[in-house]
Amino acid sequence: MRGRSKPWAVPYLQAHPELIYPELPESDEFLSYSPLYLEIGMGKGDFLLGLSQKKPGHYLGLERDLSILATAAKKIEMLGSPNIRLLGGDFDDLFEQLNRYRFDAIYLNFSDPWPKKRHAKRRLTEHNRLARIASLLKPGAHIVMKTDNPILYAFTLEEVPLAGLKLLSSTDHYEFDEAGDAMSEYEARFRALGQPIHRLIIGK
Ligand SMILES: C[S@@+](CC[C@H](N)C(=O)[O-])C[C@H]1O[C@@H](n2cnc3c(N)ncnc32)[C@H](O)[C@@H]1O
Repeated sequence: MRGRSKPWAVPYLQAHPELIYPELPESDEFLSYSPLYLEIGMGKGDFLLGLSQKKPGHYLGLERDLSILATAAKKIEMLGSPNIRLLGGDFDDLFEQLNRYRFDAIYLNFSDPWPKKRHAKRRLTEHNRLARIASLLKPGAHIVMKTDNPILYAFTLEEVPLAGLKLLSSTDHYEFDEAGDAMSEYEARFRALGQPIHRLIIGK
């Protein structure tokens, strides 16, 4: 997802510290709530908004593109969703801050596929990065990943054991679970085109 740079984005994010953390504090009431869920690469926030209305809990969304994050933040602010907070930046840069908390599930929805082999190390599910993501899970919690991209799907299936993790389920034709799942902007777009959605559940 490439966002057009929006000049209002950073001032808007800075003006709303009640919704967007400038950085994650050492301890925090919102993030101490259980259950606590994390989405990495949340895009415009449709998944977070949808799931937070179906499944009680507190939700943290991470997005590195600040223009996209600001678009999501405006939507969330307008709808008044008290159980969502946001954080801007790249997962690698924010890992130390995230590592102060543990999550009941971590969602990776339609992560950038980086289809060229020479860019494989940039994928969110590259095994070293995947192991760091999994280290943020509470005991018994899972990473849930969805993608339309067959290269990223096959790559992730190989990276799971290299990261020392367990593949709990995988399907290359995931049927949407209306009651227990939510649809991101990308999932809605690919489903409208009739493209199969792949889903993996990964545990420790
Ligand atoms: C293809 S878009 C999908 C957005 C959304 N999850 C969806 O399904 O509609 C991937 C998003 O992940 C963000 N992203 C990619 N790598 C990231 C990283 N390392 N840390 C934080 N965000 C990342 C990108 O900026 C982009 O907005």
